Amino acid sequence: MAVFLGVDIGTSGTKTLAMREDGTILASATIEYPLYSPHPGWSEQNPEDWWQATIKSVRKVLKAGKIKPVEVKGIGLSGQMHGSVFLNKKHEVIRPALLWNDQRTAAECAEIEQRAGGRKKLIRMVANPALTGFTAPKILWLRNHEPRNFAKTVQVLLPKDYIRYRLTGEFATEVSDASGTLLLNVKQRKWSRPLLSKLELDADLLPDVYESEDVSGHVTEDAARLLGISKGVAVVGGGGDQAAGAIGNGIVKKGVISATMGTSGVVFAHSDEVQIDPAGRVHTFCHAVRDKWHVMGVVLSAGGSLQWYRNQLCEQQVASAKRQKVDPYQLITDQAAEAPAGSEGLFFLPYLTGERTPHADPDARAAWIGLSLRHGRSHLSRAVIEGATYAMRDSLEIIQDLNIPVKEIRLSGGGARSPFWRQIQADIYGQKVVTINAEEGPAYGVALLAAAGTGAYKNVVEACSATIRVVERTNVNPKHKKVYNNSYPVFRQLYQSLKGDFHSIRHLLD
Ligand code: XUL
Repeated sequence: MAVFLGVDIGTSGTKTLAMREDGTILASATIEYPLYSPHPGWSEQNPEDWWQATIKSVRKVLKAGKIKPVEVKGIGLSGQMHGSVFLNKKHEVIRPALLWNDQRTAAECAEIEQRAGGRKKLIRMVANPALTGFTAPKILWLRNHEPRNFAKTVQVLLPKDYIRYRLTGEFATEVSDASGTLLLNVKQRKWSRPLLSKLELDADLLPDVYESEDVSGHVTEDAARLLGISKGVAVVGGGGDQAAGAIGNGIVKKGVISATMGTSGVVFAHSDEVQIDPAGRVHTFCHAVRDKWHVMGVVLSAGGSLQWYRNQLCEQQVASAKRQKVDPYQLITDQAAEAPAGSEGLFFLPYLTGERTPHADPDARAAWIGLSLRHGRSHLSRAVIEGATYAMRDSLEIIQDLNIPVKEIRLSGGGARSPFWRQIQADIYGQKVVTINAEEGPAYGVALLAAAGTGAYKNVVEACSATIRVVERTNVNPKHKKVYNNSYPVFRQLYQSLKGDFHSIRHLLD
């Protein structure tokens, strides 16, 4: 049977997965690499590390899955979105890539808005406001701060598209990841010439744009030798990690929403039309489904808040988890379950790395608020989980305000693995949540796109319905839902009340 590879160029590592045509996963492997922060707020990686990790993870997967080179019929690429790889005329990398979580571009975001003729006009052109993480401000940053490097740049690529170039020799991207550059006319699914001209950027800097399941090139002889596969294997467009992850969750029709709680948290809704939040609080991007779109809200530190809490304040649980050979998160959630719903008036704001949705505020900060003598460790733990989930509800409410129906919420990521956190999600979202059979995320999504794009399925929607099904349901606890409905407005108000103080705190550090 044909085998398809999904390769996801993540922030902590590259994950490759091999999938049989019928959706069965044969093997997967992750190779990690470092992230560099040469200045506070900067976040960079070496594209060569992604390429080496791609070679190693593909080789590992072929070996583990006992897959013969001739069986590999297609490759799908996914990756961290918004990053920028700058290439010179010899097509060599000029400087480390700036990543999605890099915060150096506040001045360039203002410059983009001003050149576009204001925020409203910008949103009209590219469906989204300028955010520090997006690609266009990174290109302007290079022009403003490293003019010599900018002068050498002939091509700007997104992370997974750099790997595509190393695999196929082609400069290409696809609609879902291109949407996150802020340079795509999201409605028409092509580069926005008017915005490029207002920003005085040459359109030749950007690669060709494909639909996600279209074949964008074929593996070269050199790359085939390095990876241990056959020359000429088709590489499809693939998708940015969020759209690809949504495909892996089967989010390919109206009414089905995903809530993915990884380091960041994302609420993702499929949409048959372009639906834009005039306030720009959620992102409107092309979906990896042909001629469809999606709306998503991004919480920067969702699972990341619990991870921080575990690392900084749960030494004891981490040590006893090691002794008992269990996951420390299990002990932390067991303890959180001892506190009542609502944590007796204790709130946690999860803005450890600032926030995107709904505040678009890099200066927002995290806090426990409402502490009293009654509160103990169980309350602190529960409040962190509740706070991250309230922040996800912020995105869900905006999606509902846009009149996008929410009929089924599919959970994935770390927050879907714990029954306790699944229950909190059902109770805070106020509706039943489900989990599905596939847990592999973006790498699985792009393996499905590769299968669809090379003819194993009619299209990716058919590929999803053949392979993905709901396996578990969590119903709402009405008593807890009531507690959370009363608490949520307080959570919302806390950021508004503290916003000015967060900015004062930032200025203290200037
Ligand atoms: C999406 C986003 C992140 C990155 C890294 O807008 O910024 O999901 O793609 O995973």
